[in-house]
This record gives sequence, structure tokens and C-alpha cells, in this order.
Amino acid sequence: MGLNEATRAPGGAAQEPFAPDLSVRIGPLVLANPVGVASGTFGYGEEYAALLDLDTLGALYTKAVTVEPRAGNPAPRLAETPSGLLNSIGLANPGLEAFIRDKLPALRARRCAALVNVAGATVDDYVRVVEGIEAAGGVDGYELNVSCPNVKSGGMAFGTDPALVALVTESVRRATKRTLVVKLSPNVTDIRETARAAEGAGADAVSAINTLVGMAIDVKARRPRLAMKTGGLSGPAVKPVGVAAVYRISRAVKIPVIGLGGIMTAEDALEYLLAGADAVQVGTATFADPGAAFHVLEGIEAWMREHRVARVSDIKGLLEG
Ligand SMILES: Cc1cc2nc3c(=O)[nH]c(=O)nc-3n(C[C@H](O)[C@H](O)[C@H](O)COP(=O)(O)O)c2cc1C
Repeated sequence: MGLNEATRAPGGAAQEPFAPDLSVRIGPLVLANPVGVASGTFGYGEEYAALLDLDTLGALYTKAVTVEPRAGNPAPRLAETPSGLLNSIGLANPGLEAFIRDKLPALRARRCAALVNVAGATVDDYVRVVEGIEAAGGVDGYELNVSCPNVKSGGMAFGTDPALVALVTESVRRATKRTLVVKLSPNVTDIRETARAAEGAGADAVSAINTLVGMAIDVKARRPRLAMKTGGLSGPAVKPVGVAAVYRISRAVKIPVIGLGGIMTAEDALEYLLAGADAVQVGTATFADPGAAFHVLEGIEAWMREHRVARVSDIKGLLEG
């Protein structure tokens, strides 16, 4: 179907003013718009709150929360590569108790949706974090990080095995009725298998992609540039991997797909939406420009006006070929 056939008002004539509907439903949650900021790149929101009006975003995905506080991995844990960023942060976070005490109240007061990114080394760890936050009043939703390449146990070990993805998803599903997103690893042969496992176990949505395992070496020093030697690659370099993942996942499951990986501009986000994403997240781009997610949102809205696309969910139907 051509763009104009899909979106023109009956009668054929373009009507003014045209106000696209940017809202997106993810499980029980309705996001005001499809643009969120990705876990680990926006803290818990407070660092940027003085600079930006976070409440205009669709969703804030927090930095990972684990049961115990984690100092993270030794430095250096960031290295720039051509068109990408390697990180081996290792889920540094204050732990569940301090999160509930120091971060949760401000998150709960936000008008934009707040989803807590949850990580752990065992299934029980994930359940304990979600149960703890639920007992403290809850948030809008949870994003299970079963895909971190930077921790020795848990993390990616979960995310590459469909049976473990199913187990952790169904265990957390029993602990909350709120929106549950499972964040998938691209470090697999066929990402559709873990997406189907998450869907079958009760996830409301999947997000893809987390970082790709990567390594960079300082040739002069003859040393790996990260203390952990390998890390997770993000940024523009990973976008084609993310777009292909979303394209394939969205044709394999019925639940919404949240696309991320290398989104720097609205056009990048539109690639994901055309590929089949229902919503997007902006990650590494925020380090270069704290306003990146806001520019992406403005650009998507402008594109929808220009092409007279009524709803965000209409965009995925507009991919030709
Ligand atoms: C410094 C850094 C820290 C991250 N921390 C987390 C995290 O705690 N939990 C998580 O699920 N993903 C984490 N990620 C992955 C991002 O959320 C995202 O999936 C990935 O970077 C790809 O998107 P991007 O290219 O837009 O950054 C982190 C990424 C970076 C660069």
C-alpha cells in the first residue's frame, strides 16, 4: 500500500491541521510517544532533569538495578571505535535497597513512563528486584536485561538460551502484572528464538538490541583498550544489526517490539519503525548530544505530519519491498 493511500482522509483531500497520534501501547502501559531513552545511558533520569524536560519523552528506561550494590568493572571501561562505543561498565549500580530509597520516589513522580531495567546472576535475583520494587509501590514497568555481555554470570548467559529466557520471564511474570519487557541479546545465531521464548513466557514486549560483543586493541601499548579486554559495542556501527533484528523479530512474534541500537537521528528511528518496531530507544547518542532523544521525537512527529501518517503503529505497514 502506498503512503498516501494509507494515510489520506476519506475523500482524498488532505485536511489541516493534521495532528498525528504518537501514543503507543506496550502491555497495560500507554506511552505518550514512541521515543524512550535506553538503559545505562540516562542514569535514573535525575542527572539530566535540570537540563531537559524528561516528561516529554515516551519512556525512561533506567540503568540496571541488581539485588546487591555493584561497583562495576575496573577502568578503563569505555573505548571509542570508528562509529561506535565499546563499554564494559559491568552493571554498576547502588543495589535494590538504595535504589528504592534514593531513586524510586523521583521516578514514580515522573509523568513520562519509567521502566526499571533489572539484572541478576540467577533467576531468583531478577524476581527479588521486581518483588522488592513492587512491595515499595512499583513503577510503570520492567525491562529484563538478559543480555549484558559484561558480567561473568547471568546477563548474556541467560539471553542466549531460549529456555533460560523463558524461565526468567515466567518467574518475573508471576511477580508483577505491570508492563514486562525482555531485552534481547544480538549475540545469538537467531534472535527470533529468544523473542519467541519471551513471548511464550508472558512478556508484554521485547526490546532489541543490547550491545554486540567487541574488542579494541591499542597497538602501541599492545594492550586491549578495555580492562575487561572485551566489551559491548553500541552506536551507529550496530544500527544495521538492530534494524535486521527488529525486522525479523516483528515477523516472528505478535507482541510489540522496541527497537534500539545506533539511533542518532529521527531518520534512524524511522528505519526501526519501518522495519517493524512499535517504539524506539535512544542510547549512545545521548552521550554526544543530551537532547538527542528529543530531536528524534520532534523528527518523527514532523515526518508523520509531512507524510500524513495518522498513528505511529501505521508506520510499520509502510515498508515497501
Ligand atoms: C555505557 C552503557 C551502559 C549500558 N548499560 C546498560 C544496562 O545497564 N542495562 C541494559 O539493558 N543495557 C545497557 N546498555 C545497552 C544500551 O541500553 C543499548 O541496548 C545499546 O547501547 C544499543 O543502543 P545504542 O547504540 O543506542 O546505545 C548500556 C550501553 C552503554 C553504552
